[in-house]
Amino acid sequence: MGLTTLLYLYALCVSFLLGPGLGAASECTFPPLIDATQSELQTGLRLGCFTSADLVRAYIARIHEINSKLNPVLEVNPEAMEIAEQLDLERQQGTTRGPLHGLPILVKDLIATDDRMETTAGSYALVGTKVPADATVVANLRKSGAIILGKTSLSEWANTRSTNSSNGWNAVGGQTYAAYYEEQDPSGSSSGSAVSADLGLAFAALGTETVGSIILPAEKSNIVGIKPTVGLTSRYMVVPVSEHLDTIGPMARTVRDAALVLQVIAGQDASDNYTSSSPFQGALPKYIAACDMRGLHGKRIGIPRNVLSALPRRYYRSAGPVLSSFERAVGSIRNAGAIIVEDANFTAYESYLQTQLPQLVIAADMLSGFSAYLAGLTSNHNKLRGLEDIRNYTRNSAEEDYPSRNTELWDLAIAAGLNNSSPTFWPIYQQSLFFGEEGGLLGALSRHNLDAVVLPSSLASDIPGIIGTPIITVPFDSFPANASVEYNGRGDLVDAAPGIPLGISFLGPKWSEESLIAMAYAFEQRTAARGRLQRVVEPLVELEDVVG
Ligand SMILES: *[C@@H]1O[C@H](CO)[C@@H](O)[C@H](O)[C@H]1NC(C)=O
Ligand SMILES: *[C@@H]1O[C@H](CO)[C@@H](O)[C@H](O)[C@H]1NC(C)=O
Ligand SMILES: *[C@@H]1O[C@H](CO)[C@@H](O)[C@H](O)[C@H]1NC(C)=O
Ligand SMILES: *[C@@H]1O[C@H](CO)[C@@H](O)[C@H](O)[C@H]1NC(C)=O
Ligand SMILES: *[C@@H]1O[C@H](CO)[C@@H](O)[C@H](O)[C@H]1NC(C)=O
Ligand SMILES: *[C@@H]1O[C@H](CO)[C@@H](O)[C@H](O)[C@H]1NC(C)=O
Repeated sequence: MGLTTLLYLYALCVSFLLGPGLGAASECTFPPLIDATQSELQTGLRLGCFTSADLVRAYIARIHEINSKLNPVLEVNPEAMEIAEQLDLERQQGTTRGPLHGLPILVKDLIATDDRMETTAGSYALVGTKVPADATVVANLRKSGAIILGKTSLSEWANTRSTNSSNGWNAVGGQTYAAYYEEQDPSGSSSGSAVSADLGLAFAALGTETVGSIILPAEKSNIVGIKPTVGLTSRYMVVPVSEHLDTIGPMARTVRDAALVLQVIAGQDASDNYTSSSPFQGALPKYIAACDMRGLHGKRIGIPRNVLSALPRRYYRSAGPVLSSFERAVGSIRNAGAIIVEDANFTAYESYLQTQLPQLVIAADMLSGFSAYLAGLTSNHNKLRGLEDIRNYTRNSAEEDYPSRNTELWDLAIAAGLNNSSPTFWPIYQQSLFFGEEGGLLGALSRHNLDAVVLPSSLASDIPGIIGTPIITVPFDSFPANASVEYNGRGDLVDAAPGIPLGISFLGPKWSEESLIAMAYAFEQRTAARGRLQRVVEPLVELEDVVG
């Protein structure tokens, strides 16, 4: 008999002696949902302190509280309670499917669910369309016993549409905000997933990244985000941006919990050929086992100083706080036993900042990918065939806020006139790779014999985007009390201000998630930064309010 069973019997016994309800109340602790980990939630479920149905009730109440203020969730799964009760029943009958059994998870509304929920990318163009199947990542979550709790808001069409929209805005849901400052820019495009994971509106969430869409919003919401190697997680039935760059990954409050979700969603899939490039044929690394306090010990960590020097030009007018915070993070990494290698520069970074090749690759992939996604729908009442139809729909539909939010990124893609089966595509793609390979991350890793490179998370995504390599962002700090307040381009969201979170990112070669998780875990456990930040809004409903 395992410890688990003993504890369970003990809980039953106590509850028998004390009478219904009382036993649970006196022996159980209810983890605050804003920080609750998989291990705390599974302990409570195992001991019978609360059920998955209770978890669903609590999370839905929290979603309703927060949605009126920050708007991160587009839709709650009308079947969530039924699914939770079924999983509770399985547990009572002695079977659990794995570490995620009975835990509610939210998914970005780019990821298809073949159920009573919509899959919209935030646009009315897709409202009412029907998909032929669950996304493979969703099917994997369901098989593992996770409950798909709902769909999260995002920058419309994963931020492919406009040059003057705002992060976290879409026609269906409106504007999403993050929780650390009034009208905080949540970044994007996985904005709602980040805000929901941060505020404990679910156990964790899924996001998608082409360039920055997991890492950037995870940073701004003080959570952990993993952007996996392209091909580690299947993109089947996920609204595409770029088949060469897109990847699906976990967004969670701790490195360990993100690793647990990655374990479940990763793997080969005949419906996404990029997954056949994975070296882990049938046997994934044990990502949770990589969570080790000594994960940074003896590791060679490079700092691409020339990339850091571009920060003031690229992001914040006042980059000082980001850079000084980064130096403190490097100090913590050194104290954890790592060897810091200075000037591990990305040698072609200056020419990368001038080139349009990576943008052309994405534009060409988008033209082909949108057509393929639309062709695969089983119901498509707006009769959309490709990007031109989507643009026309968007410009002619009052809800889409055109022309206040233009369609310029699509206009440029259409004007470029290139799709990814055009004869000129392949040479352009090959040339673009140079900025990430020899001229970028891979060159730095091999010249300096590094295990990883670290960067402030705001600078981490662009080069790995080009070559499909993994990144993990971990909470580290926030803008100091004297930081200046900066707005986004549209002038309606606060980008930088006192208290807004800052994260650190670890970058490695393809398929290095296991080693990146080890480093990120050691960093997270030593710095314990997440709990120090202050939000301006938090949900109040807790498990004890719904149990019984
Ligand atoms: C995967 O590759 C095979 C062989 O090239 C091809 O026949 C098949 O259509 C591809 N499948 C998908 C989903 O792209
Ligand atoms: C790396 O970049 C920094 C900052 O731009 C520069 O000062 C340094 O000389 C570069 N190092 C090498 C080896 O190129
Ligand atoms: C891609 O462009 C070519 C012309 O270069 C065209 O024949 C083909 O139909 C296009 N494919 C897609 C998926 O748009
Ligand atoms: C453009 O969109 C409008 C409104 O959605 C529709 O009525 C019209 O048929 C579309 N035109 C084309 C050429 O698809
Ligand atoms: C966005 O750009 C369009 C032109 O493409 C312009 O008409 C509109 O006023 C702009 N909106 C804002 C808020 O700047
Ligand atoms: C904010 O405070 C820090 C340290 O106290 C100081 O180094 C920095 O110059 C100040 N920044 C501004 C913009 O006043």
